[in-house]
Amino acid sequence: MIGDIVGDFAGRLLGWYDRAARVLPWRIAPNSGGEPDPYRIWLAEVMLQQTTVAAVAGYFARFTERWPTVADLAAADDADVMAAWAGLGYYARARNLLACARAVVRDHGGRFPDSEAGLRALPGIGDYTAASVAAIAFGRGAVVVDANIERVIARHRLIETPLPMAKREIRAALAPLVSSDRPGDFAQALMDLGATICTVRGPACAICPVMADCRARGRPDIERLPVKPPKKAKPHRHGLAHWIEERGRVWLVRRPDKGMLGGMRALPGGEWTDERPPESGWAESGIVSVDHGFTHFDLTLRLARREAPPEVSGAAAEGEWWPISDLDAAGLPTLYRKLVDKMLERDA
Ligand code: ADE
Repeated sequence: MIGDIVGDFAGRLLGWYDRAARVLPWRIAPNSGGEPDPYRIWLAEVMLQQTTVAAVAGYFARFTERWPTVADLAAADDADVMAAWAGLGYYARARNLLACARAVVRDHGGRFPDSEAGLRALPGIGDYTAASVAAIAFGRGAVVVDANIERVIARHRLIETPLPMAKREIRAALAPLVSSDRPGDFAQALMDLGATICTVRGPACAICPVMADCRARGRPDIERLPVKPPKKAKPHRHGLAHWIEERGRVWLVRRPDKGMLGGMRALPGGEWTDERPPESGWAESGIVSVDHGFTHFDLTLRLARREAPPEVSGAAAEGEWWPISDLDAAGLPTLYRKLVDKMLERDA
């Protein structure tokens, strides 16, 4: 009897999912008989990496309305896609997204490969995305591990090895639990469980569908799991950008394709350096600054008003005058958006 309770992890999890699945725009509701659209599943999975469901919803709606199929996205202008991605962060992913859409159209007749290995061979698709799309879009029994799933399994199996070393153990513990009938729902059920019940802080163990055999249940230190690696000190960098304004327009450049915020529109400026740069000799005024955290460093970026036109100032010649009243449409990444908002607030 107890064996039945404890044994059928997937059954208990899926029973809960059938009742409690979150309604999400890319998701086919359990037992609805709907057919998943691999394009929408792939797009959502790429957007959801490092980001929350709440942050992605608006982007997903705008992308799928403007580019309803992978062929539409493949045919889009790079600049339009980069601008539509602005604010989601990790801009290399937007460039990879386009490269992937184009490879699907060029090499696969517009249909996503239906296996984990086939998906993995596409540009920008890593282990996680290949597994999640294979499971959710194509019903493959892939082992899908994202941060939510990592937490659920580390707790359920009481895996105390610190991340990232714990990843192998987590994967090995999860593999035999995966539902062979409903691998896509199984993965999404674990994601939902992690997002709504087995939360980072204050997990709601009393209503957890898999609590009967959870080895961390009731432990006062459950929030410690999964054990994080020791935090590395992040370097701090500094940069200076220029606000060059003329007749209601501001000079914008496009950042080089390689490197941070590659291919995105930005305010002109110098390199980001480890030392705070000395005050420049030019007529500077109206300085504002923002602090912004990237994954591997923190940045303090100052923005100074400059009067000289770009040809004279030496700011990148490749740029465009952009109407200040229409800056929303420029698709500036969050860092520059914050700076611009501060500058405009100051001037208001
Ligand atoms: N996070 C990443 N992928 C997800 C999905 N398919 N459903 C819910 N949350 C997710």
